[in-house]
Amino acid sequence: MATSHEQQLQTFAYSHLLRRLTEPSLRAIVDHKTGYSAKKARRFLEFQERIDRELLQHRIITDNRYTAWFRQGHQTREQLRAFIIQFSVFSNQFLVAQLQKMINADTLESMRASKEILANEIGVIYSGPRAKVSSEKDTDLEGDPELVATEGSIDGSIFRFRAAHIEWLMGIAGKLGLGFSEVGKRRHGTPPTLYYCDELIRLYGSSEYRTSQAASYAVENWAAAGFWDELVEGLSLYNRRTGSDLPLAFFSWHGRLEAQHARHTQEELEELYCTRHIDEDHFIQVGNKMLDGVAAFWDGLEEQRKQIGRQSG
Ligand SMILES: [Fe+2]
Repeated sequence: MATSHEQQLQTFAYSHLLRRLTEPSLRAIVDHKTGYSAKKARRFLEFQERIDRELLQHRIITDNRYTAWFRQGHQTREQLRAFIIQFSVFSNQFLVAQLQKMINADTLESMRASKEILANEIGVIYSGPRAKVSSEKDTDLEGDPELVATEGSIDGSIFRFRAAHIEWLMGIAGKLGLGFSEVGKRRHGTPPTLYYCDELIRLYGSSEYRTSQAASYAVENWAAAGFWDELVEGLSLYNRRTGSDLPLAFFSWHGRLEAQHARHTQEELEELYCTRHIDEDHFIQVGNKMLDGVAAFWDGLEEQRKQIGRQSG
């Protein structure tokens, strides 16, 4: 049951035409926090409608041909190997983009937020009150993605080589007969994969705050749109069909992580709008450019899997 405080907030939202606003922003308006007002929030909601129409309808969010195919589980071992190789290149190049984002952060808080993601990516396990796995168990976990937390902080936490996301991916690669020297490097990337990675570094890792924020919002909305689950679905079917035991936890862990991220992304955008200046046209433009990069990656995979299919068929 809602407390009276929550009810008050809901009534406020209703009477000020702000029902779509997240709770932290509503509270900020009620508490007269600097930058927040009902008028500004209504302007934000108009901007949000524009984002819905002009950014979140990007075809790579609404219609990803590759993952739609992948989820059916008909891939050959060769097609799967090609996919894992491209994904490993992206996974490593993402570190470069995330490092740039961290270095270019314009507040201590956002530098730390970027550092959380970067350090977790290379093997620092999330822990603390929000971590779902208790720390006493850490000694047995050894970084297994089935078990490590998707929430919490790297602060005061432990590092494990085996908790690095690239090592989880290498676990799958190994099962498919791919050795260390066959994955992860730029030289293994196709031109579309490298284009995507370079767009990530250029936009998501931009030294211009408004550019990195717009790219970040676009990437997070894409990541939360469900492609991880489609990959898990396809891989489970592949395992069942071929009697393989490819570990899926790299993908399922990211699926769980993104489900939580989606909740925060909206709050962050509202905060950005109210406390900083957003150039709306620029935001939409950069967001779309970033999603074009994402689309290039998946289109490249789609092209490649068709080519492999033709060769073997
Ligand atoms: Fe990751």
